[in-house]
Amino acid sequence: MDETVKKYLNELKKMGIEYQILEHPQLISVEKVQEYLGYGMADAGATLLMKADEKFVAIIRRGDTKLDNNKVKIFLGVENLGMATEEEFAKITGVPSGAASVYIKGLPTYIDKKVFEKKYINAGSGSLLVTLRYKTSDLKKIPGVKIVDFTEIKSDEKISKTIIGKKRILSGITPSGDGSLHIGNYLGAVRQFIELAKNNECFLFVADIHALTTVQKREELEKNIETLILNELSLLGDLTNITFFRQSDVPMHTELQSILNNVTSLGLIKRAHAYKDKLQKNQTEEDINMGLFNYPILMAADILLYKTDMVPVGRDQKQHIEITRDIADSFNKTFNKKIFKLPEPFIPQEVAVVLGTDGKRKMSKSLGNIISIFDDEAVIKKQVMSTYTDPTRKHATDPGHIEGNMVFTYLDFFGEKKRVEELKGLYKEGKVGDVEVKNFLFETLMKYFAPARARYQELKSNPQQVKKILIEGAEKAREVARATMVEVREAVGLTNQYSFFKY
Ligand code: TYM
Repeated sequence: MDETVKKYLNELKKMGIEYQILEHPQLISVEKVQEYLGYGMADAGATLLMKADEKFVAIIRRGDTKLDNNKVKIFLGVENLGMATEEEFAKITGVPSGAASVYIKGLPTYIDKKVFEKKYINAGSGSLLVTLRYKTSDLKKIPGVKIVDFTEIKSDEKISKTIIGKKRILSGITPSGDGSLHIGNYLGAVRQFIELAKNNECFLFVADIHALTTVQKREELEKNIETLILNELSLLGDLTNITFFRQSDVPMHTELQSILNNVTSLGLIKRAHAYKDKLQKNQTEEDINMGLFNYPILMAADILLYKTDMVPVGRDQKQHIEITRDIADSFNKTFNKKIFKLPEPFIPQEVAVVLGTDGKRKMSKSLGNIISIFDDEAVIKKQVMSTYTDPTRKHATDPGHIEGNMVFTYLDFFGEKKRVEELKGLYKEGKVGDVEVKNFLFETLMKYFAPARARYQELKSNPQQVKKILIEGAEKAREVARATMVEVREAVGLTNQYSFFKY
């Protein structure tokens, strides 16, 4: 056990705070630590180092709760509130990012009330290898500690699972269909990506080479790419921690794919769903191009090139991440060097598969069961109005069902909680009609996506700005990709003449 932890334990003893030492391997997230220890996120305590105006404060909350920033601001009487930067964190705590202890000497400490609903809480020790199980009632002994009601229980635990340290996050979207995004893409992947981008280093790219497997008309592909770029940038808004780029602007993706081909077995790729599904849909091997067949290997290259820790995607991509892990492991073993990290998928249960407006199948452009984000209001209204509700209900006065009712499923994600609960109550009692709840969903969506829709119009009329983002993004991505390729070339025994090896 390192000295910092020993010193910390001494201080705890002096304060009379009881604890139990739980040792574990260094794991990526608080959730993984809990999983390893056999506890849930409600048993985890997270120390957030926050900057409130110019002051730093430590806020301790449970892993399954979400900080209500407004409550904190009001309580502290400050205007600005945000997480401390990595540098600030390091300077103040002197411990690795993600390892903050519950008591940080000299720092005002606030503990959220819900922590005390638990008798014990597993939280930081100053080391990523040690978690302490604190007796919560003892935490009241921390000098000057205040107990405040700062949080609400998270609606989805996984999004905000507290990630230890800054991680590299990567995701991609293919400009197939017409390149536009629907709420399934948003809930399944983009929303998690945005959440993770608040505290991590993120890469998001337009998988335009992947699109060639199905889009083989130049004008169509160009249009799709343009649409997808505008859609994604409008949703993202703030690009502070995000490198946004086009896959084809970074030729290392295809170079790495070529190398990975050689550590990937035919059997592994034959087991991939995308390929198997096509074969089942009455298509023969003659109809399947090698781009589609090799799709998982290009995707592995996309992910491994950036030494990605986590990939936020919908469940339909899970198998691809598993294949990526197999390929990475196979490469590392074959060349006897740990070049690649094995990435983790990030797939919150409740949005793993967002069902379409038909209430039956995955929301997907090709099935015509989507709700768009950037289409004209009239189009979105029509999509909302045709959403599947409760087929057993003939009149607005009949008691209605909420389960499986897609209007309420979507409202649960986007609507204001209190109002949604009220409507559910009225619906069950037959006091509100389908049209009314659908209108409410439509208004809710318009409101929710209003900032993104406004950004869309702005970016559309400002192609220079978009171009600049893409150029800068590609440069940054190439830099990271180049560094990995130097290692890869070296490991496999290919030439690595830097002067020639320029893209
Ligand atoms: P794509 O373009 O089909 O979908 C983009 C993202 O949206 C998610 N998604 C959904 N999630 C939940 N419910 C739905 N109804 C739904 N529809 C779509 C997808 O799971 C995905 O996360 N192969 C990828 C692109 C890709 C990629 C990568 C992703 C290429 N390289 C590397 C991650 C890392 C694809 O075609 O996604």
